[in-house]
Amino acid sequence: MTENKAQSSKKSGMAAREGALRLIHTVLSEKALLDDAYAHEIKDGPLRKLNGNDRAFAKRIAITVLQHLGEIDQLLARFMERGMPKKSGPLRNILRIGTAELLFLNTPPHAVVDCAVSHFRTWRKYAGFKGLTNAVLRRIASEGEKELLTIDPAKANLPDWMYHALCSTYGAETTAAMMHQFMRPQIPLDLSLKDPHDIDQWAEKLGAEKTPAGSLRLATHDRVDLIEGFQEGAWWVQDAAATLPVRMLGDVKDQRVLDLCAAPGGKTMQLVAQGARVTALDISKKRLQRIEENLSRVGLQAELIAKDLFKQTFDEKWPFILLDAPCSATGTIRRHPELIHQRTEDDIAHFSRLQAKMLNHVATLLAPGGKMVFCTCSLQPQEGPELIGDFLMQNPDFAIDPLSAEEMPELALFIQEDGSLRTRPDQWSDIGGMDGFFAIRLSNEANP
Ligand SMILES: C[S@@+](CC[C@H](N)C(=O)[O-])C[C@H]1O[C@@H](n2cnc3c(N)ncnc32)[C@H](O)[C@@H]1O
Repeated sequence: MTENKAQSSKKSGMAAREGALRLIHTVLSEKALLDDAYAHEIKDGPLRKLNGNDRAFAKRIAITVLQHLGEIDQLLARFMERGMPKKSGPLRNILRIGTAELLFLNTPPHAVVDCAVSHFRTWRKYAGFKGLTNAVLRRIASEGEKELLTIDPAKANLPDWMYHALCSTYGAETTAAMMHQFMRPQIPLDLSLKDPHDIDQWAEKLGAEKTPAGSLRLATHDRVDLIEGFQEGAWWVQDAAATLPVRMLGDVKDQRVLDLCAAPGGKTMQLVAQGARVTALDISKKRLQRIEENLSRVGLQAELIAKDLFKQTFDEKWPFILLDAPCSATGTIRRHPELIHQRTEDDIAHFSRLQAKMLNHVATLLAPGGKMVFCTCSLQPQEGPELIGDFLMQNPDFAIDPLSAEEMPELALFIQEDGSLRTRPDQWSDIGGMDGFFAIRLSNEANP
């Protein structure tokens, strides 16, 4: 490498770490979603001038810190006998980045220490912490790996309430297996095809694997819009687990389907691609635009309504309804590790109340003999199975329309005793895991 090239690579490596520092700060302090913070940094922050690889590295660092934050903080506490100094500004996050790079990203120690110390050129006011940074990271480089083995990742990385809630629902072993998936360095990308008959052809073209749910899975990927088939609208991005609720509605060809809480629209696309006449409603105009863009790219159509579902009235009742209710999204932590640090027990209670209210309201929109699927991408039982008992008591005309293994043989693993569906992130672990979903099919045929 020439001296100039080495200089410029050092400069971009440093800018990537500055970007990572800003991402971590925004996500942890302002509760921003990582993808939103990243989009902002690309537009207006230090990531703007970087190439794709350096940008991806910045995001990788931020994701790794968020995935392993509990472990990293425990290690820092062990190696900083006097604790984190007060009023030390960015020091904590600089050390977190350094630790993540040393222990989980295999960056050579000299580069880690060099970059960590270089941060204080920007943060001059805190330059007095250079020596401490150097000393702590050198100790982590030599002793961190061994020390890390003494820490339980699930207990350390999940907040106490979440760890205990998951253990009491799924057991400690499954919780550990889920944590393992939450820490995956690479999350696969799933694609749903506009025409599922073309699956073999697209699997070959993209070098993708077919999932048992009938979608395609790419183990690694760069920019989605550069993947073959995006521009021509052959597919859209949708986690394999997220395709299951629509399948539970059965054959919807030529049927009127009300898709509630529809944005950004993965399930809308699925319904329309199957030939349903879809009305998709979401309270967020901005998120609804994403459906519009996706529909137009794929060449499909649906009626879109931007409105609060509690305020929308319809002239007729609906034979099919999908309610994909707002939730804590703990089932998507694999792809959104920031949720580990942002969700609280109060959020779970809030979403659970809202979902119960939505379910009761939406039940009034279903035609006699109709089917409705309620789903959430939460792992918490309060946002799934625990709602159903009360719903059935308050709506005696309704009953669970249970899923059967004959109906979905390849997905029998996910069917629960009561006929509802539950997927977990640790399932399909050999091919990269899946999102956690709860879905249940309800009909008002109980008392015809
Ligand atoms: C889990 S997301 C839906 C995902 C979507 N069904 C898909 O497959 O891409 C929940 C959605 O509920 C919407 N939402 C929240 N409260 C709502 C309300 N009162 N009325 C309508 N939509 C609402 C949010 O804007 C959000 O887009």
